[in-house]
Amino acid sequence: MTPLPDHELIPLISHETINRRVAELGVEISSHYKSLLVPGETLLVIGVLNGAFVFMADLIRHLSVPLEVDFIRLSSYLDNRSSSSKVVMLKDLERNVQGRHVLIIEDIADCGLTLNWLLEFLKSRDPASLKLAVAINKKARRQFEVSLDYVAFEVDDGFLVGYGLDASRRYRELAGIYYLEEKK
Ligand code: IMP
Ligand code: MG
Repeated sequence: MTPLPDHELIPLISHETINRRVAELGVEISSHYKSLLVPGETLLVIGVLNGAFVFMADLIRHLSVPLEVDFIRLSSYLDNRSSSSKVVMLKDLERNVQGRHVLIIEDIADCGLTLNWLLEFLKSRDPASLKLAVAINKKARRQFEVSLDYVAFEVDDGFLVGYGLDASRRYRELAGIYYLEEKK
C-alpha cells in the first residue's frame, strides 16, 4: 500500500482483533433483538454510506436474527469559526422505518454532527426502536450528543483510515485500522 505523499500509515487495530470484536458485538446485538422481534418481524439495518459498508458487511454476518438492509448517504459540514453546521442527505432510505426496529451502522462517531442529525431524522419517522452501532467511537472532539448503543473500539483522537474509513477517498479497502499521520 503506497500512502499519500508525505504521509505514513501506523497500524492501530489488526484485522484479527477487528474480527474477534465484531463477532462479540454480533452476539450481543442478536441477543437484544431476539427478545424484541416477534415471529415474522425483521430488523431493519441501516448503513451510512460510504464509510459503513465494510463494518456493516461483517457485522450483519454475525447477527442471528432475520434482517433487511437499507442505506442512507449523508454529507456533513462543520465550521467552528462561524459555528455553522450542516448535514445534507445525498441518498434517502428506500424502506419505510415507521413501526420498525432499526439499527443504524456507522463507521465512526467524531464530532457527532452526522449521527446526531440522523438520529433526530429517523426518530421523526417513528420507528418502533432505534439503536446505533459504530466501529469506532472517537471521543476527543465530540460536540453533538449521540448515544452510542454498540461500539467496537474506542479511540481518543487522530485521523484513522482502513476498514471502510477513507482519507480523500483512499484506503477504505485496508483490512486493519491505521492512523494516517503526516511525516515529520
Ligand atoms: P462526525 O464528525 O461525527 O459528524 O463524523 C462525520 C464523518 O467524518 C464520519 O462519518 C466519517 O465519514 C468522517 N470521519 C471522522 N473522523 C474520521 C477519521 O478519523 N477518518 C476517516 N473519516 C473520519
Ligand atoms: Mg461517514
